[in-house]
Amino acid sequence: MIDTTTLTTVLRRAARRVARGRSGRARAPSGAVVPAFGIGLSGRERLDAMMQASLTHGHVVRFELPWITAHMLTHPDQIEEVLVTKHRLFDKKTRGYDKLREFLGHGLLTSDGEHWLRQRRIAAPAFHKRRIDGFAATMAQCTEEMLERWDRELSGTHERDLAAEMMRLTLRIASLTLLSSDTEAGGSSIAEPIGRAVTTLVHEANQRIHELVTLPEHWPTRRNRALKQALGTLDGTVRGIIEERRKILARGEHGGHEDLLQMFLEAADAETGARMDDQQLRDEVMTMFLAGHETTANALTWALYLLGKSPHVARALRDESRAVLGDRVPTAEDIPRLELARRVLSESLRLYPPVWIVGRGTIEDVVLGGYEIPARSLVFIVPWITHRHPDFWRDPEGFDPDRFAPERKAEMAHKHQYLPFIAGPRMCIGAGFAMHEGILVLAQIARRFHVSLVPGQHIEPEPVVTLRPKNGVKVTLDRW
Ligand code: HEM
Repeated sequence: MIDTTTLTTVLRRAARRVARGRSGRARAPSGAVVPAFGIGLSGRERLDAMMQASLTHGHVVRFELPWITAHMLTHPDQIEEVLVTKHRLFDKKTRGYDKLREFLGHGLLTSDGEHWLRQRRIAAPAFHKRRIDGFAATMAQCTEEMLERWDRELSGTHERDLAAEMMRLTLRIASLTLLSSDTEAGGSSIAEPIGRAVTTLVHEANQRIHELVTLPEHWPTRRNRALKQALGTLDGTVRGIIEERRKILARGEHGGHEDLLQMFLEAADAETGARMDDQQLRDEVMTMFLAGHETTANALTWALYLLGKSPHVARALRDESRAVLGDRVPTAEDIPRLELARRVLSESLRLYPPVWIVGRGTIEDVVLGGYEIPARSLVFIVPWITHRHPDFWRDPEGFDPDRFAPERKAEMAHKHQYLPFIAGPRMCIGAGFAMHEGILVLAQIARRFHVSLVPGQHIEPEPVVTLRPKNGVKVTLDRW
């Protein structure tokens, strides 16, 4: 096993060799020492190191690591090649996805090829605009109930963690709309154990991606015990939801469900008529259960954090929400008129993209932006960097929701300089769902509550599988 000092030396050597294209268009490395991928650094330092690599070495940066050759692509043109025009030359056989598959199995997010295409076709109708419009009532109702709880609890302690609140809300919305299962049934919420399990999982996946050796899962280490418990909690919940539905169907009742779970249960192979087996169903439901709430919760937490730092935008959002909604619970028809809420959400997704990095493996040799990228190497796209790169954005670090105003569209010269949901065939299936939900939740909170950040806390983005606030975001909530 390589010890830490040796590993650091290896990474530093690798960094000196970055960006040597083989096609003759080599860019001389500047000599700056950038730890590859920022491995060994934590939190914001890692993101800064990767940004520095792009600023110093250009938009195609190569890292020669002992176990793989990796390329960081930060220009929208190469991003378009990978995700859209040459997408067939890439797959998800990457170390990152291998680790996620250990937990999620072969669901929509982690599968490839024919199998992925078939599953995507089954799931797609659940995400058509008409269906998502239909979810607006549930999204709005869950949010109202959260706000009523905030109202009741305000008489006690005022301080609360926004990240935990948003996880609880988005978990409930995703399970109700996609699986018709209430995570707050009977007045008690299962959000806390689920939240703990998800946190364990994203950290464990992150550690496995970056460590050279992972101890076997049956060894009784502290990490393995925590993982077993986390997977037990999530599997138990997901399998419980599936079993409950199966029982309803076995009784000959449809139960009135026309949700995503029903679509997965009813889907039959066009040739053989075979249904999904239990494991496949578990993998798909687990994927939706996790992907459907964790990212959206992070997006909302970051948006409210930014609003907490920009009181004038928060006041403008309150005014818009009151003008559009009055005292009503919002509906899908209100969404197009909540224009500032849309801009605030879009701008926070730019500054804090929950999926901050996306990796792909090259199936064969490919030329990107004039560089030859060898077969079975890694390319990775980093929305965090492209979204903040001075080559593409004016005042890139500034929180300016109006940059998403229609009249400023021309400022976004490149189609793929903004990609919170990425693009092409593997674009997020839940993008419309997430935007609907985000706009409604932001508007409803802003209408009634003023979010203030608790002073003295250090808010640090933690780039694990998703971009999470490392220690949460402590706030006080006051009625306007
Ligand atoms: C702000 C919230 C969200 C963000 C930023 C986000 C981002 C992304 C990104 C970047 C991908 C592509 C990953 C890759 O190909 O490597 C993705 C895929 C996916 N997302 Fe989302 N997502 C969000 C919300 C949702 C929601 C609400 C759902 C479900 C209800 C969802 C379900 C999925 C699934 C199933 C995939 C895999 C799709 C496929 O490969 O066919 N996501 N998401």
